Amino acid sequence: MQKLSIRDLPLKDKRIFLRVDFNVPLSEEGRVTDDTRIRETLPTLEYALRNRAKLIVASHLGRPKGKPNPRMSLKPVAERLRMLLDNVLESDCNVGFSPDCVGLEAEELATRLESGQTLLLENLRFHPEEEANDEAFARALAKLADYYVNDAFGSAHRAHASTAGITKFVEKSAAGFLMQKELDHMGQLLLDPARPFVAIIGGAKVSDKIGVIKNLMNRVDALLIGGAMAYTFQKAQSREVGKSLVEDDKIDLASDLLHEANERGVRIMLPADDVVAMKIENDVPTKIIDAEQPIPAGFMGLDIGPKTVRLYSDEIANACTIVWNGPMGVFETPQFATGTRKIAQAIAHNEDATSIVGGGDSVAAVHQAGVADKITHISTGGGASLEFLEGKKLPGVEALTNR
Ligand code: 3PG
Repeated sequence: MQKLSIRDLPLKDKRIFLRVDFNVPLSEEGRVTDDTRIRETLPTLEYALRNRAKLIVASHLGRPKGKPNPRMSLKPVAERLRMLLDNVLESDCNVGFSPDCVGLEAEELATRLESGQTLLLENLRFHPEEEANDEAFARALAKLADYYVNDAFGSAHRAHASTAGITKFVEKSAAGFLMQKELDHMGQLLLDPARPFVAIIGGAKVSDKIGVIKNLMNRVDALLIGGAMAYTFQKAQSREVGKSLVEDDKIDLASDLLHEANERGVRIMLPADDVVAMKIENDVPTKIIDAEQPIPAGFMGLDIGPKTVRLYSDEIANACTIVWNGPMGVFETPQFATGTRKIAQAIAHNEDATSIVGGGDSVAAVHQAGVADKITHISTGGGASLEFLEGKKLPGVEALTNR
């Protein structure tokens, strides 16, 4: 890693601004329903607190559009964080909460913080200046601390005040352990993957995954496509796809990609069969249609079929490196979740391979299939992991101090 690590910072009695991605789901009553992203930062928090730092923790939650919104408050997160830290540190942890992330009160609370204590700031995005990467706002955040640590891999693709701008106003900026772990795992994929290297890319739209397909095409041994975006590719191959979701303005692009892959000898696999139905609802009648056949009028493809599951699972079984991003069907409707779940199981089954899963639905599928512990690395970043795999530079990483 070419950037400073939290290990390179003097922590004792220093105020550390720790940017995390606590953008976690909350229930209607404001309870944290999935604390994975909080848990994943615990090694960094534990290290800093055991080394007697004064921790000022900041995050965004949701997209409140620059205005305070009680439904997107980080207050419930502070409670969960305290519980988790109590467990890790085996003592009663002091986790304070500042009702604003900048201003006098935040400054006072930060100043009063004692070594080994934590202060969580309210949602950064309650201020429009956060997403605008406003300089004065970045300076106001920086004023709270001596050094900056970024452990928010999930937000590293955003050039915001708390992920990028702030680094101009602190002496040193370093990566936390989660950030390092994510970059190590994902970086390995692009730099030196053990072969065969298989990528499984799914999701509704080709347009969302175009960058990743292009970048991975040069690196993988096989690229397995699933999800509705497969129909744009199949339409490009002149298949009738009924009323399946197709991006008509991307058909030429899909055709060019297939052509390019062919020229370079890259194997892009498209589904060999599909589960089709007339509506996206549970309990509607479904049919399995072979990809050689047209999808009948009035029907749409909603999941990969059993033949595709077998073919893709064989590829996965022979791989030494596997990366997966995006569902194989309409995963949120249980009737069409089978293909996605089977892919999760196939990846888990290949325990010798290095497997990396990113993106909300694929990560959810791995959890639902109960195989999360069989995956080498589950990324906490959706958009960030995608941009990383596209080969883009992440502003939140670029901004950190070079070694
Ligand atoms: C995420 O959930 O992917 C990150 O927290 C980034 O959120 P954003 O897409 O609202 O910037």
